[in-house]
Amino acid sequence: MRAAGSVPTDRSTGRLSLLDYIRVAGIAEIPEGEMRVYDISVGRVAITHVEHRLFAFGDECTHSGCSLSDGEFDDREVTVECPCHGSVFDVETGEPIEGPAQDPVPVFPARLTDDGWVEIATQPAGEDG
Ligand code: FES
Repeated sequence: MRAAGSVPTDRSTGRLSLLDYIRVAGIAEIPEGEMRVYDISVGRVAITHVEHRLFAFGDECTHSGCSLSDGEFDDREVTVECPCHGSVFDVETGEPIEGPAQDPVPVFPARLTDDGWVEIATQPAGEDG
């Protein structure tokens, strides 16, 4: 018997289906415009929200691995600036806007449930199953 709300898996491969979501945190834990970081099965993920838009992205800067959630979030540009050497990432696409980082951080589709939970997809946006 499967518990209500559990994540279905593909029995033939044991892998989660594309765009399965996992519950991460209550939205009340994440003040609007602030970042919170969570260690979950997909890795270390930073989550923030602005004006009912949720953003979930890999916390590790692709330059030298600093924690982006220790940096500055710009809620108008929806960007995060790395605290170490100033790389700026678009948190919607993950793309670096300013270096020295050259590579994007992963971004995860995120949603808010009716009962106030933040859930994120188990695979980054744009990644094939
Ligand atoms: S570690 Fe982020 S800019 Fe260098």
